[in-house]
This record gives sequence, structure tokens and C-alpha cells, in this order.
Amino acid sequence: MNKDIKMEDIVSYCKQYGFVFPGSEIYDGFANTWDFGPVGVELKNNIKKAWWKRFVQQDPNTFGVDAAILMNPKTWEASGHVGSFSDPKMDCKKCKQRFRADNLIEEYSNGSVSAEAMTHEEMQKYIQDNHIVCPNCKGFDWSEIKEFKLMFETSRGTVEGAKDTVYLRPETCQGEYVNFANVLRTTRAKLPFAIAQIGKSFRNEITPGNFLFRTIEFEQMELQKFCKDSDSLAIYDDYKQQALQFVKDIGLDPLKLRFHDHDKLAHYAKCACDIQYKFPIGWEELNGIHHRGTWDLSRHAEFSGKKLEYLDPETNEKIIPTVIEYSIGADRLTLAVLCEAYNVEQLPNGDTREVLKVNPALAPYKVSVLPLIKKNHSEKAMELFKLLSNHFMTSYDETANIGKRYRRQDAIGTPFCITVDDETLNNNTVTVRHRDSMEQDVVKVDELVDYISSKIIF
Ligand code: GAP
Repeated sequence: MNKDIKMEDIVSYCKQYGFVFPGSEIYDGFANTWDFGPVGVELKNNIKKAWWKRFVQQDPNTFGVDAAILMNPKTWEASGHVGSFSDPKMDCKKCKQRFRADNLIEEYSNGSVSAEAMTHEEMQKYIQDNHIVCPNCKGFDWSEIKEFKLMFETSRGTVEGAKDTVYLRPETCQGEYVNFANVLRTTRAKLPFAIAQIGKSFRNEITPGNFLFRTIEFEQMELQKFCKDSDSLAIYDDYKQQALQFVKDIGLDPLKLRFHDHDKLAHYAKCACDIQYKFPIGWEELNGIHHRGTWDLSRHAEFSGKKLEYLDPETNEKIIPTVIEYSIGADRLTLAVLCEAYNVEQLPNGDTREVLKVNPALAPYKVSVLPLIKKNHSEKAMELFKLLSNHFMTSYDETANIGKRYRRQDAIGTPFCITVDDETLNNNTVTVRHRDSMEQDVVKVDELVDYISSKIIF
């Protein structure tokens, strides 16, 4: 098994098999945008479904929303994004490429120096003292560090010439805060309860590439738990554990996961941490768990003039709940799953096979139906396809020899291949071939749906 996989290997594998394509590729692409292809969209949807099931469906005190991407611009004043959502950027005066100063330092030091808490002056000095050169042209002629605004702006105006600036949301959680009172009223929830959302966010990131890791348009899966301040640290610890368990359960190697406490905290936060995953580019943030105090609801109450309070039924006191946030990028998690599951295996006969050993619940196709001989078995195989596709994403392939067809399914992670042959016609049984072990079972057609269902539960 070859686990020395590089990011370039994952990018070309994803492109070859239809997981992810460069965005707007026929126009030579558009930097840091990616399009999910036929199997990629299934994988990402399954990851989102697994998250929703674990954190919304299976928690009686969590409620979902799907808020608008374009929000009243006051939202972003209240949240602090209009004033301060920016990255420290530096331009290489020689090749005109733009970089994040903090990233230059962290990459140069192999992650041993964190620039999170450094001032601009400290970062500039570190870069000068260590003679950090431009990663693109190797020049050493840097501009001053300046703050680079991360929110995409657009405008809206119903009267020509009178346009208001609006923003593409840079995080989904504000849609959860502004709906706090609506959800409280309609669900009659009691503290602690959570509001969750999955949706697109947009950031004008300065990024060195790194595929899906940092893009300008991405999906977040975010959850805000509203609670009493006295319960907040226990809830924070609980979400750290739940978040870790979730990524282990979907198949990430526990040895490639670790907690990273933030060095620099927002003034309102009691604590914050990330779970990091060991990507091919090194240890990097996968998700965040943040103690946000009463900051968000207080600010929205102040800017909107609406009361965002909770009446404690026991004490009859009105309080502004404290928020614990759990936030994870769906695209970044999809990348982690791909990096973890992708293998190039040496087979006993000397061949190699590419195989995506992904948790069966996440696999793009759960099953593939393969008639052994097209002219003899395709009619029965198509019947089976119709049966199975009622229940699962099912692929059908009657081209090439059976070995090649198995390889194709291995490469996209299909856990079960079903071969339809004379036994099927005569005895109503099929051969089920398992992706990881390549072993085969004989299963009665009547039992096939239950057989597969029992093996893809998340
Ligand atoms: N509401 C809090 C928040 O947005 P964040 O740490 O900025 O916090 C949370 O983002 C998660 O969203 C990250 O841990 C990461 O998984 C994902 N994420 C953030 N920026 C991203 C980007 N540019 N591309 C892909 N994923 C991103």
C-alpha cells in the first residue's frame, strides 16, 4: 500500500475519475475555484448527509435552517466583518504575486512558528531576518504588509444610480444568529439548544492553491449551541469530543487528527480550538470549535434594536445565551476523506490498482451492476439495476472485461460489485465482490437490498 500520496496525485486522480474538475476549465480555469463532478458531488453530498444526521437528526435539541446568502449589510457591521475581516498580505515586487505573510512564516518554519498572534511589524521582521524568499520567483523584494479585505462585495439597487453595497456571506453562522428568536419561538426550545446550517460561504482568499483546502467559494457545516454561561465550558468540551468522534467515524485515521488550541483569542472568547488533520501539505485546520460568549447575540440585538433574549422558565430571568460554535468545511472535509481513502495497491499478480477505501456510507455509488457477458446477461442486469437504484446510487457497466470494470469501481470507491451471470439466470443468485478485500460472496437476489443496506449504515 502506498500512503506517500502528494496533493498533485489527489488532484489528478480527482480529475481523471470525475470527482473534481478545475472551475471554468475551458476558459483556462478561474483560480481557486473547483467544480465537483459526477462522483465528487455524491461523495460531498454523502458527507453533508452524515454530518446532518449526526448533529441534527440525532439530536433532539438541534434545529436546522437554510438562511439567505445575501443578508442585510448591517449583519456584517454587527458581526465585525466590515471593520476587520482581513488577512495580512504582502506582494512580491518582482513577480507581482500576492501572499499571506502569516502563511509565508508558517510554511518557512514548517509549522513550528505560529504567526497567529504576531503584529505586522513582527511578521515583517521575521521575514526579513530569516530572508524568506518569494515561493514563486525566489526573489526577496517584498512590499509592506497590508490588510486585505476578505469579503466579496456586490451591489443591489432598485433605482438606477442608487446602489447599496451588499456582501456574499463569508460564514454561514450569521444566518443562525439572526434566526435565533424565530427558531426559539417556533420550536419552543429550551436551553441548551442548537441551530445548524449547511451552505455556501465566500472569501476573497489569498491562497497558494492547495486544491480544495482553501478556496474562494466553499460550503460550511456550522452549528451554534445556545446555552447558559455556567454550562458553556462543559458544552465546549463535549463538542470537541463529538467533532473528533465524527471525523474518526467517517474514516479519518485517529493518528492523523489532533487538537490545536488557539494562541490568540477574540476578546469575547473564553477558548477556541481546531481539530487538525495531517493533509499531504502537513498538519492543517479541519474544523473549529469556538466559545463565543454572548458577543454575537448582543451585537445583533444592538444593531437591530430587537431583543435576542431567553426567558429562563426556572428563574424567570431574561438572559442573553452564550454560544459554542462548531464549524467545519464540507469541501475541506471531502479533501481529507479523499486523501485518507485513496490508495495505490500492489496486487499479488504484479498489477497495481487505485482504490478509494472510503467508508461505504460515503461512497458515491454503493453498488455497481455488471453483466458478465453483455449479450447473455444484460437484460437481467438491467432488471437488477432498476431494483437496486430504487434504494441506492447504483452504477451499471457492461463495457470491457470484468477485471477492468472492477478496477473502475475500485477507483471511485464502490464497495460492492454485483456480477450477473448464468447462476443469476438459473438460480437467482449473484456474486457480490467486496472492494477492499476483493473477496466474493454469493447472495440471493431477494436478499440483496437488505444485504447492502446492512453494510452502509452510518
Ligand atoms: N463561523 C466560524 C468560521 O467561519 P473559520 O475557522 O473561519 O470559522 C470554519 O471556518 C471552517 O470552514 C474551517 O475550519 C474550514 O474547515 C472551513 N473553511 C474556512 N475557510 C475556508 C476556505 N477558504 N476554503 C475551504 N474551507 C474553508
